[in-house]
Amino acid sequence: MSKSISRKGQHKSERLEFPLAVNSGHNGKDIVESIEALTSKLTKQELALVERKIKAMGMEEELKRLRPLSGLYRVIKAMTTERRLESLLEVITKETQSILNCDRCSVFILDKQKAELWTQVAQGINKQKQIRVSLSASSVASQCARTAKQINIADAYRNKHFDPAFDKLTGYRTDSILCVPMLNRHADVIGVFQALNKANGQFTESDEEWLLALTTVAAGLIEQAQAYLEIEHFVDRTLETLAQTIDKRDPLTAGHSVRVTNYSLLLGNSLDIPEIDLPVLRYAAMMHDYGKIGVPEAILWKNDRLTAAEFARVQEHARYTYDLLSNLPFKGKLASVPFVASCHHEKIDGSGYYRNLKGDEIPYLARIIAVADVFDALTSERHYRNRMPIDKVAEIMMAGKGNHFEPKYVDCFFKLPSSQVLAVMESERGQAIPYQIKQFESVNLKRLVELVMGAKPKKREEGLSQIFEAIYNAGLPPNYQSLD
Ligand SMILES: [Fe+2]
Repeated sequence: MSKSISRKGQHKSERLEFPLAVNSGHNGKDIVESIEALTSKLTKQELALVERKIKAMGMEEELKRLRPLSGLYRVIKAMTTERRLESLLEVITKETQSILNCDRCSVFILDKQKAELWTQVAQGINKQKQIRVSLSASSVASQCARTAKQINIADAYRNKHFDPAFDKLTGYRTDSILCVPMLNRHADVIGVFQALNKANGQFTESDEEWLLALTTVAAGLIEQAQAYLEIEHFVDRTLETLAQTIDKRDPLTAGHSVRVTNYSLLLGNSLDIPEIDLPVLRYAAMMHDYGKIGVPEAILWKNDRLTAAEFARVQEHARYTYDLLSNLPFKGKLASVPFVASCHHEKIDGSGYYRNLKGDEIPYLARIIAVADVFDALTSERHYRNRMPIDKVAEIMMAGKGNHFEPKYVDCFFKLPSSQVLAVMESERGQAIPYQIKQFESVNLKRLVELVMGAKPKKREEGLSQIFEAIYNAGLPPNYQSLD
């Protein structure tokens, strides 16, 4: 094999033939002789051009040889810097595609409960679209997962396990397939790694080996991430249960922690707080009243207004919350949970408790929880009073702007769609049904209060005030008197 280089300005017939392919069967002596013979005929510029070309060709060969290794290097490098499973799997699929020189790669995860495979990563498919395949389906991926054996198919349309339905749906044409099962430490199948359409032919034995190696890496990462998620879920449920043990001591406060958590998250998301702060907000809101475990039930359940001494005992719960939560190993980004949770009764004018913090001294997440906590307390029945009318609630919340609450947080809370607020508000009482709540989607909480107070409804607002009152007051005695 030889390649030609044109001498600038020379006629086509005078092209110089030069044996550039050093790995094409010539021995070293031949090549040296050919080079010497030719270089004597070349100008300086032409020699430089030839040298560059030789270098380029040499590097190309070297790159081809090193491509799989450099791909593996990039995978290992990503593993040391990237923690998110999805991003890591994207790197692995991208490198696998390059190493195998194929068109697409997909990582299917096995959902044991549903007996389905779903795509964690699927090249060429919209990220929002998840492919789900039944484990019992006749697809190649399902077959691979069921048998725990790799499958190498040269021509998909001639294979009995290939299901062309997805090709028809997407307009893609599958030719060759290489599918390898992903196994955990116990050799159980946890998913499948699939490569499609090898460039120029079918997948080779070397491709099988590479895919097996990369699949082992991917399987390890998936297993690790699944174990981490299980621990995270366990911790989450444990904290939720701990918080509920306090609420459930008293039927009137049942659900308070969950509702405050959900209101806080609604407000936090609406304020567009950094994603990294959301878990702190969630746990701090969930556990904010945990210190109530240290307050006697006779005081908490008192069916009348509290004396000053009793109120002082109730106030102690914020300190108890801090002390108790500080015993839990909240680490890293969660380290601030005990402090944030214990600041939920601080007021921005410094008149709150128990540290009497002021303004920015109060963590902003605690200022979010304060709005959620008071709103829930006012819209819930208490031992010493009934559920407060929503216009009175709004009046108290607005009056608290700038002294108790961060003004913009209250404003933002009242701008939330009232459907979202109602869904949280009624989550424990079960008075509203989803289709009723849906009607409030286009009306924010502020507008709903205006309608309840007698504002003239616009076209789509007609009847909302009555529906709201029916939901809100269901189960309450008619014409009840609020003690507040
Ligand atoms: Fe509290």
